[in-house]
Amino acid sequence: MANTSIPFSTPSAVMTARSVPRSATAIAGAVRSTGAGPRTGGRSRRDLERQGFAGEVGQSVVIPRRDGATVIAVGVGERPSSGDLRDAAAVAVRNAQRHQDVTLDLLSAGSSNSADARAVTEGALLAAYRYPGITAKPDTQPRFASLTIVTSGAAAVERGVREGEVRSRATYLARDLANTPPAHLNARDLEVIVTDLALTHGFDVEVFDENDLEEMGCGGLLGVNKGSVEPPRLMRLTYTPRNPRGHVALVGKGVMYDSGGISLKPSDAFHVVMKMDMSGAAAVLSTMTTLKDLRCRNQVTGYIVCTDNMPSGSAMKLGDVLTMRNGKTVEVHNTDAEGRLILADGLSLAVEDKPEAIIDIATLTGAAMAALGPDIAAVLGTGSKVVEQLTESAEATGEPIWEMPLEKARYRKLLDSNVADMRNIGGPYAGCITAAIFLSEFTADVPWAHLDIAGTMKVDGDESWRSKGATGFGTRLLIDAVMNWSA
Ligand code: BES
Ligand code: ZN
Ligand code: ZN
Repeated sequence: MANTSIPFSTPSAVMTARSVPRSATAIAGAVRSTGAGPRTGGRSRRDLERQGFAGEVGQSVVIPRRDGATVIAVGVGERPSSGDLRDAAAVAVRNAQRHQDVTLDLLSAGSSNSADARAVTEGALLAAYRYPGITAKPDTQPRFASLTIVTSGAAAVERGVREGEVRSRATYLARDLANTPPAHLNARDLEVIVTDLALTHGFDVEVFDENDLEEMGCGGLLGVNKGSVEPPRLMRLTYTPRNPRGHVALVGKGVMYDSGGISLKPSDAFHVVMKMDMSGAAAVLSTMTTLKDLRCRNQVTGYIVCTDNMPSGSAMKLGDVLTMRNGKTVEVHNTDAEGRLILADGLSLAVEDKPEAIIDIATLTGAAMAALGPDIAAVLGTGSKVVEQLTESAEATGEPIWEMPLEKARYRKLLDSNVADMRNIGGPYAGCITAAIFLSEFTADVPWAHLDIAGTMKVDGDESWRSKGATGFGTRLLIDAVMNWSA
């Protein structure tokens, strides 16, 4: 990443082998909750059970071997799913912190299951992630020089490992960007990063600056940007394969820092994480970086809508009316409900491309976090097929989502305004739903799904394959969804 000075993390190199290499110093072996003990530990099941290890997912025992190597017995339960294997690989890696090379012998012998191989690779790489930090000497080196995954050698399994690598690398990027402090990453900084990535990852970029946005009538993004000394950027990223099968548009909320604006957030320790209010944009950008490598058969257009949300003498005021790209007007009742204002323009532009489906992703509401907690994102939408695809992708990637009702008939009236087509907040309740109903005013008749990732954007400590800080949630979910989309 030549043009910026912010540190980016590097994933470990991933190799595959048909058996555990003789030179391996840290070896994780799968142990089921029934049947034989570990393949390489030299311990009986009874020995392990005496230490309270029953082979359940999440359990592990570290066994020093006489020759100096470390064996990690990792529980995978009775009949491990891909998700169980992703968790098991994460447990293995977290137990092997002091080693430079880690060998994972977790896939069942002779397996040709690419999803399992992908999951093991992802679990290991994602658990090994740590943010390099803005320090005197940022540590951008991978935690492990290499990961060796023992496979059957079947083509599908090798492909699964490579796909897992690509999807993890993208998640690293999303995490790095969201973890970066706001002064180190404003909309113009992100523009430099995006144009750089486009060159190496096979997608095109068009950048719209404040003058373009004025001409285009993007009143939502310009309104939110009014209080900031930093100009906004809207970027259109396009990936076009030969003879595309379908076309999906992605729209990401890129609020580089959300102070709340004139409706200033309280000076609360929690708000340090508002540097992560661009996690949706990061997920869209990261997704775009994988499509060429994964040979995606669909055309994908990504919109990332970027500004910070600041209070100042020039900031938008409560009562101001903004005219959005699609011509609809919005009365601002709370400047902290800014995400929907910028997404209104992003969604309107996406509609103009006439895609088969639109997916937006945004750290949109505290209400989504209150409803579903830190592990599950909310999904709402008008396109049942695209919601269905996302639900399947959530299952496949271990990034859970739960559908909430888009109850326009009951709740649209909460957005009624005396002076404009709508206002930007509803009442005190159902905040996740009213936010989505607001967005639906800008999606015309294109099948659309909205992901509210406010709750899932970060974790407070290491948890399985999610490492402390920004999670990059939504990256693998979107990749899986656009790869598998068919209308
Ligand atoms: N960026 C916040 C939502 C958020 C909250 C993200 C917590 C991540 C963690 C968003 O812009 C916001 O401030 N939403 C308000 C909307 C309200 C004013 C209607 C909220 O949820 O409180
Ligand atoms: Zn806000
Ligand atoms: Zn916000």
